[in-house]
Order: sequence, then structure tokens, then C-alpha cells
Amino acid sequence: MSRSPLHYLECINCFSQFKPTQIYSCPKCGDLLQISYRYGTLRSRFKASLRKAGPLSVWRYRELLPVSTHNAVTLGEGGTGLPRSTRLAGDLGLGEVYFKNEGQNPTGSFKDRGMTVAVTRAVEIGAKEVLCASTGNTSASMAAYAARADLRATVLIPRGKIAKGKLLQAIVHGARVQQVAGNFDTALEKALTMAATGRLYLVNSLNPYRIEGQKTLAFELWEQLGRVPDVVILPVGNAGNISAIWKGFSELRRVRVTDRTPRMVGVQASCAAPVAAAYNEGRSEITPWPHPETVASAIRIGAPASWKKALRAVRDSGGAMLTVSDREILRAQRLLATREGVFAEPASSASVAGLLKSSRLGLVNGCECVVCVITGHGLKDQGSVEEAR
Ligand code: F0G
Repeated sequence: MSRSPLHYLECINCFSQFKPTQIYSCPKCGDLLQISYRYGTLRSRFKASLRKAGPLSVWRYRELLPVSTHNAVTLGEGGTGLPRSTRLAGDLGLGEVYFKNEGQNPTGSFKDRGMTVAVTRAVEIGAKEVLCASTGNTSASMAAYAARADLRATVLIPRGKIAKGKLLQAIVHGARVQQVAGNFDTALEKALTMAATGRLYLVNSLNPYRIEGQKTLAFELWEQLGRVPDVVILPVGNAGNISAIWKGFSELRRVRVTDRTPRMVGVQASCAAPVAAAYNEGRSEITPWPHPETVASAIRIGAPASWKKALRAVRDSGGAMLTVSDREILRAQRLLATREGVFAEPASSASVAGLLKSSRLGLVNGCECVVCVITGHGLKDQGSVEEAR
């Protein structure tokens, strides 16, 4: 289980390749980086390793992870449930619909998949302090994993704009919390400036190691379903997760365990929708939205860092970008809780609002298998439920 020498950093724009070092963007053109593998060599190793690996978890897929597994900073992430819809699917006249319940992760959101890998990487390179900007869940997750690894943790959050439960998590795990005047986009800019000194290790999803952990959701879906779903629907904020899950499915094809990939359907709140606007207007670049607004505070983001990867995921998969109103999000939250028994925070309920809209638009009709990713637990954001009552 030694660290795989079979990966390298690659620019998504100019395709320059770099040895894995502490960089967050391409030194040549400034664009985002991704981790690539020598897939041909890994093909048989990946398949063989699954026969020996333990139960579902992020670390089950170590052959396609870029860090050493013996020092993994883990709290038992991944292996989340995939309940099949018992009532909503019937109401909509759809075939199989599943909810990938990421609220079951250690800190209550999908961020833990990425954080276990990013913090393991932080320890590997000898970092003493980790840093992130966050709408709440990333900070809660980073604080927990930093505590586990005995690293200092600094989180930058938009002042007064994150759910109380998430702030509480960051504080309880001992992170230093800095409230920034402005929104998430302002906080991320500040975090990038602070990380440029090289003293703090930035674990936002523009760090490609985060993406590597999050892509394992695709691997799990493939194993839980025994096939690749037709459509995956998920909320889009900073646009890391849709990029990660698409990378996971693409890698399953590259290591030749399947020749299919799903259509990726991203969902944004209608007043915080720069990626959906660009996609639906046929533009190849986004225009940042200076004042994003939505009840779904986790995805209240106007300048998503990973927009380019997200646009590619949707285009290459033949998917779609949808917008849903706050009313639709809150209605979906109630439907999911009362008809399926799953309590999701508003951002996560956007998946289900997106399912309802996809059904109205005829995007999922005739599909055998649709998965909605429920990205975070409803208890994190009690305020939004109380206000909506
Ligand atoms: N759902 C939840 C519950 C989230 O917390 C986030 C992002 C998303 C969806 C969107 O995922 O950013 O990868 O497109 N939360 C980040 C945070 C921004 O700081 O916790 P994305």
C-alpha cells in the first residue's frame, strides 16, 4: 500500500504536466489543475484491489487516490446509504430513483470525502496549518479533520451568512473562525491571498486533492447499483462536486470497468446561478454574479472557482444545468422529509427540486435509473426550516 507514483498534476487548459507539489493553479497559464493517472497501468490493479478491499468507503478506492493510505486521516467517510424512492418516483411516474445520502458522513456532508484526502495530503507534505473559505460545510469538515490530524485550522466565512449548526461545528472542533465582510466569493479571494504565502495549506475544492476524495461517490454508486445510473442530479455552488463526480465516472470508463457514463444535471438557485446562465446561453465562460442570493446558503456563490470543469462535465455528459427558486427548494425539502423520510438541508434539497423540474421538462422520462445526491444533513440548518414554517 505504498504511495502510488502513477499520478501527476495536469492543467485543464494548457495540459502542462507537473510533479505533485503545493500548487493550486497552473504556473504557466493560471488555470485549474487536476490529478491524472497512468490509467493503462492501473487498470488491472484497480479491479484486483476491489476484490480484496473492505466495505464501501473512500479508502476502498486507494488505487485511484493520490496519497498514501497508511497515514490516512480518516473518520470513516463514504459508504453512505442509497435509499430507493418509495413514493416520489411513483408520484412522478418515473422508474428507479435513488437518494445518495451524503448527510451520513462523519460531519454530515459530502465534504468529508474530499477532506479525508486533502488533510492526509496536508500531513504528507508537512503542513502545520490548513485553511479554507466556506459557506459552512467545508469549514465544519476541515475543522474536524484538522483536529484529528493535530493541525491548526483557520476558516474564513461570510459574516452572518452561514447556518448556525455549521458554525458551531467549526468552533467545537477548535478552528480559528474569521468572519469576512461580504459573501463567500470575497472570503475565497482572501483565502487565496493568505495561501499564497505557502505557510497555510488551502483545502478548498480548487485543491485537486479534494476532488480526488469526492470522486469516490461515483465509484460507490457504480458498486451499489451494479451499474452506472442514467442521470445524476446534484446542487452546484463552487462547482467542485459536479466536477469530481464526473471525473469519477470518466475514470471508471478509463479503467474499463464500464463503457457508460451518466448525464450530469447541475442545479443552482435561480438568484445564484452563474454556471446555469452561461450553460443555457451557450457561453463558454461564466460571468460572476456580484450579489448571489438564496435561502440555500451553502450554494450562495456568485463566482464559482471550478466553473470551467463544471461546464465541461455537463457538456461532455450530455446533461443539463437547471435553476430552481427558493420556494421550489423549500417545497422539495418538505416533500423529501415527509414522503421519503430523508431530512436534507436546503442546498441538498435543490437536487430534488431539480428532479421535479427535470420531470416537468421531460429530461428524465424513460430513464431507468436516476440518482439525486443529498449533499448535507437537514439538522445543520434549522433556521431555514423555522423561517419557512
Ligand atoms: N450542497 C451542500 C450542502 C454544500 O455545502 C455545497 C457547497 C454544495 C452542495 C455545492 O457543492 O460547491 O462543490 O458545487 N458548499 C461549500 C462550502 C461551498 O463551503 O461548504 P460545490
